[in-house]
Formats: sequence, structure tokens, C-alpha cells
Amino acid sequence: MKIIIIGATGAIGKHIIAALQKDHEFITAGSKSGDLRVDISAE
Ligand SMILES: NC(=O)c1ccc[n+]([C@@H]2O[C@H](COP(=O)([O-])OP(=O)(O)OC[C@H]3O[C@@H](n4cnc5c(N)ncnc54)[C@H](OP(=O)(O)O)[C@@H]3O)[C@@H](O)[C@H]2O)c1
Repeated sequence: MKIIIIGATGAIGKHIIAALQKDHEFITAGSKSGDLRVDISAE
């Protein structure tokens, strides 16, 4: 499965990728890092 991970470079994101990378493909996203730039802040 192809999965978009917002916050992939963070502490939790790194663990999620490590746990799932064997079986899945990732697109990483963050406000300053990753394959895609997204800002999910509420303000
Ligand atoms: N670590 C814990 O033990 C823990 C426990 C309970 C809850 N949480 C919550 O889980 C979330 C992630 O925690 P974490 O420890 O992994 O944080 P972290 O290490 O600071 O990583 C945050 C990640 O989110 C991205 N990010 C930050 N602001 C963003 C924005 N406005 N839009 C899109 N991406 C953004 C960062 O990349 P960029 O810098 O490129 O944006 C980074 O990849 C936080 O909301 C935290 O409060 C964490």
C-alpha cells in the first residue's frame, strides 16, 4: 500500500515508518521536511 505520512521525520513518524516499511511504500510530508510540504497547523 502507498501511505502518506505527515510528520514522518519526527519521533513518532520515524517509528511508524520503521514498523511498516517492509510491506508499504511511503510519501513523507511536513511543513519543512519530506517529499511534500503541507502545513496542518490550525492557526
Ligand atoms: N513523542 C511522544 O511521545 C508523543 C506522545 C503523545 C503525543 N504526541 C504528539 O504526536 C505528534 C508528533 O509527535 P513527535 O514527538 O513525533 O513530534 P516531533 O518529533 O516534533 O515531529 C513532528 C513532525 O511533524 C512535522 N510537523 C510539525 N509541524 C507541522 C505542520 N504544521 N504541518 C505539517 N507537519 C508538521 C515535523 O516536520 P516539519 O518540521 O518538516 O514540519 C515532524 O516531522 C505531536 O502532536 C505530539 O504532541 C507525541
